[in-house]
Amino acid sequence: MKNLIFKSLFAAAAIFMLCSFSSKKEMPLAKVVELGLNRATNQSLHMAQELEHKEGSLPKTINKKGELETSDYSWWCSGFFPGELWLLYENNPRQDLKKYAEMFTARVEKAKDIKYSHDLGFMLLCSYGNGYRITHNPLYKEVLIQGARSLSSRYNEKVGAIRSWDFSPKKWQFPVIIDNMMNLEFLTQVSKFTGEDKFMEIAVSHADKTLKNHFRPDYSSYHVVSYDTITGLPHIRQTHQGYSDESAWSRGQAWALYGYTMMYRESGKKAYLEQARNIARFIMNHPNMPSDKVPYWDFNAPDIPNAPRDASAAAIMASALIELSQMQNDELSKQCLLLAEQQIRSLTSDKYLSTKGENRNFVLKHSTGHFPGKSEIDVPLSYADYYYVEALIRMKTLLNKK
Ligand code: GLY
Repeated sequence: MKNLIFKSLFAAAAIFMLCSFSSKKEMPLAKVVELGLNRATNQSLHMAQELEHKEGSLPKTINKKGELETSDYSWWCSGFFPGELWLLYENNPRQDLKKYAEMFTARVEKAKDIKYSHDLGFMLLCSYGNGYRITHNPLYKEVLIQGARSLSSRYNEKVGAIRSWDFSPKKWQFPVIIDNMMNLEFLTQVSKFTGEDKFMEIAVSHADKTLKNHFRPDYSSYHVVSYDTITGLPHIRQTHQGYSDESAWSRGQAWALYGYTMMYRESGKKAYLEQARNIARFIMNHPNMPSDKVPYWDFNAPDIPNAPRDASAAAIMASALIELSQMQNDELSKQCLLLAEQQIRSLTSDKYLSTKGENRNFVLKHSTGHFPGKSEIDVPLSYADYYYVEALIRMKTLLNKK
């Protein structure tokens, strides 16, 4: 008898669990997007308040003691926080967001004269570029033009590309990293509003060279290609932030996807669209892509499934995939949008999204900056937050059109 009662109770519990599981509805995507944007707004305002009186400081990450780590204008990530504030202000025109967007943008101004690095697009387009697009402030335009001249000074006619780094630990003559695709939009934008074709020509030449020399037959990308400055041809292909020279460093694949999607939008060159679609296929079909679609820091990390994730790679991919999904109308486009939705849902879950005030007021957890350098592993990063907010706004715009 006891056994019968136990069996009946067990069956009832099982039926109850099954029913509640099958009736558990997914939150509508529009609600997920609003949740993410509200959290990002809240966290960013708190971050801005914390740094308001710390002259020149811009958020970077948190250190091993859990303290907020900042930089000045010269770190490659200086523009992401002001850029995020501009995007959030555009989404929700609150005066406090605008005040802080202006304040933190001004902290990046000195980057316009940097000639020792290629990162001026990250620094200045995110900050001054978004600011100019939204406010048409003519002073912002002057900074952008000066910055585009500085970046162009790194272009080499023989190679047909912009030099990424000046440091050369491995006999690189002229290192170009896949990340550099992201700095081209800075040049195409300045070319459009100044009418100076030279900036667009440099961007297209760089994208053409990268398309020819940076990719493997499966459309995964090398991190570093160094060019011989006499012949203009590649002489070394290696990694710097990935697991190995032949591995697919996740953020590198994300930069490549975003870079060619953006360059198709900016130039209309069909080869860039095809490249972006092939990179998307590589990413979405990779056997090591986890079920929540937030990549491990390298698709070939040896300790998968225990390897750290890189939420920044997922955020960059999601933003690019939304744009790419609108460029053609076919099955691949639908798959791109579906993958972006899965990434946004995951990033907006408790696993990746900071709770209020958590994570030193960064928005996302679990990014990886430079694993081989033993730096920024499983931490928040300002660029993860920037591209997450951009992806949310792109998705919101799309949902509003439907
Ligand atoms: N160099 C930029 C990055 O870490 O992705």
